[in-house]
Order: sequence, then structure tokens, then C-alpha cells
Amino acid sequence: MTQAPVLAIDGPGGAGKGTICQLVAKKLGWHLLDSGALYRLTALAASKHGVALDNEESVAVLAKHLDVQFIPQDEGLVNTILEGEDVSLNIRTEEVGSMASKVAALPAVRQALLERQRDFAQSPGVVADGRDMGTVVFPDAPVKIYLTASAEERAKRRFLQLQEKGVDGDIEAILKDIQERDERDMNREVAPLKPAVDSLVVESTNMSIEQVLDVVMTELKRANLV
Ligand code: C5P
Repeated sequence: MTQAPVLAIDGPGGAGKGTICQLVAKKLGWHLLDSGALYRLTALAASKHGVALDNEESVAVLAKHLDVQFIPQDEGLVNTILEGEDVSLNIRTEEVGSMASKVAALPAVRQALLERQRDFAQSPGVVADGRDMGTVVFPDAPVKIYLTASAEERAKRRFLQLQEKGVDGDIEAILKDIQERDERDMNREVAPLKPAVDSLVVESTNMSIEQVLDVVMTELKRANLV
């Protein structure tokens, strides 16, 4: 099924997947699939069009026809344009993240985004960041990592990440949001967040970005992909 090599990195929000995936994609010159952005964009599109987040059929139509462009900028940054509007900052808020996890629980929405995600598997390879990359979207991926960390550590990382972007955050509110999102992502019926049976689980609470990167590169070497 898979055309080009896939590095699937799954795990809960705030575990550092985004940072690691960007670094690896840049290092290898591979494509990057930020699947969470697709769910965030779907939620934003629903709110723009006044569609209720639990209206499965209508949200799925929006997901299927998302008018989105990802425009690469310097330093690995990407500008995200939804229906002609730059939403690069809006989609990163905790509020949109929470809305995303609601639409992500709808089976028809996940189905609508499936092919769009698989299309990213182009030569020379793709680094896929999400919740179900190794379990559902790319079950044949040669390297699967499940990157996690304690909820408290993830809240701290999210808080610092927001600060860097000049966005105000309340660490207690972020922790509560992370716990609610974990609960929803892990307990939904379709594609719940869980490690693929053939994934390497990396518990990164006490690891630096460099240490996680080393583990990922070692796995890629083991699979003869680099
Ligand atoms: O990773 P990110 O925080 O951007 O994801 C936002 C939400 O989208 C997650 O909380 C999750 O509910 C959903 N998601 C998903 N499957 C993916 C990626 C994200 O359900 N592959």
C-alpha cells in the first residue's frame, strides 16, 4: 500500500512529536505530514461555516473538500492558508486543538481525511506526525515510534512553546486541556490513540530533544532507511 518509506510518529499532544518530526524531515529531506493540522483545519472550517462540531455528515464534507495550502517558509516553518486566509497562528491555539479532538472522534471525518494523508507518502519519504499513523494510516510503515511523556511535562512543554510564539498560556488550563484531550483521543471508537503493536515506545519525560532524535535516527538506520 505504501509507496515511499514512512516514519510514523504517534503519541499524545505535547510529547514533542512536532519538533522531532520537523527536525527529522529537514535532516533527511523527506516530506512532512502534520496530520493534526488537518483535524485542526477541519474544526476551524466548521466553525467558519457555522457547522456544529458534532454534525458528522457536514463536518466530513468540509474535511473532504478542505481548501488548504501549506506554503513552506524559511527554517522549516509552514504558512497554512485555509480558504485564502492565513490561519497559521489560529490553528495552533489550545481552543482549536480541543475542537480538533472533537471532530477527530467522528468516523466519517477520519475516513474523509484518510486518502489526503496517504497522498503524502511520496519519494524520497515522509515523516508522519499524528495519533494513528502507525495503526491506521500507514500500517506498513517500516519505522513506528510512539512518543510520550507525563501529562505534567507535556503541559510544561506546550506552555513554553506558546510563550515562544508570543501566545499567552495558563499552565493549569493547558494541563486540564491535555488530560481531557488524552481521554477523548484514547477512548474514541475509531482509531484511538495507542501504540502500534510493532512500534517502539519512547517515554521522553526525562529526555532531551537530541536524545529523542538519536533514538529515531538509530531506528531509521536499523531499518536501512538512512
Ligand atoms: O497533534 P495535534 O495536537 O495538532 O492534534 C490535534 C487533535 O487532532 C488531537 O488532539 C487529536 O484529537 C486529533 N488527531 C487525530 N489523529 C491524528 C492527528 C490528530 O485524531 N492523526
